[in-house]
Amino acid sequence: GPLEEMSLPLFFGWFLLSSVQDKVRCTSMDFLKTLDTLEAFKKHLSDFTGKAEKEVDLEQYFQAKGTLHCTTKFCDYGKAPGAKQYTQNTAVKELYGSAFELSLSALFVTPRTVGARVSLTEEQLLLWPADPEEEAGSTSLPRGSRAHITLGCAEHVEPVQTGLDLLEILTLQQEGQQGEPIEEMELGSLTYYGEGRWLLTLREPICTPACFSSFYG
Ligand code: A2P
Repeated sequence: GPLEEMSLPLFFGWFLLSSVQDKVRCTSMDFLKTLDTLEAFKKHLSDFTGKAEKEVDLEQYFQAKGTLHCTTKFCDYGKAPGAKQYTQNTAVKELYGSAFELSLSALFVTPRTVGARVSLTEEQLLLWPADPEEEAGSTSLPRGSRAHITLGCAEHVEPVQTGLDLLEILTLQQEGQQGEPIEEMELGSLTYYGEGRWLLTLREPICTPACFSSFYG
């Protein structure tokens, strides 16, 4: 029938309600604004500019794209491996269109992307595909480690990079690299992991309502 012939979406994911999107964007902008002014950040400015001493306005440096969401499965209209199987998953079928509460536990910034780490609950993990961490080559991180919201990308950087940047930081942590503790900020503690990788672990996770749905584009 016509339903079967419909192509699969570009991706499935949790879509933040528009009122909380603004709130999350403001929080991220405030963080970038503050990070910009820190001496520790200025010290490592060349990670972002390629040259020492040049100024960088992080709010301009990153471009926001589309509605804020946490991708579960990137289907690429059915062309991505495992796309069809994902749509046949019982949890995906049953929970499609349902409301969830996402917990944002950290913000991270690299020279390529800025994003929020999403800490998934057991129920939310039912909607997590089998292999996104392995696909990225991170075989030893727990399932759901890649869950994130892309908040912005540098020029010429695709949003898929945000999850890879997060996995890179989590891999460093798992390998026992504690990073350089920078300071306690109002929102939480800021750590530097080298090569322009900054992680702000939120003191209080940001809880945001989100709808599990799909995007065709
Ligand atoms: P993300 O989830 O990090 O934001 P695009 O606009 O480039 O087609 O991407 C649409 C969405 O799908 C974005 O949210 C993007 O990244 C995600 N995405 C794109 N490519 C992939 C991929 N290969 N694996 C996982 N997610 C992807």
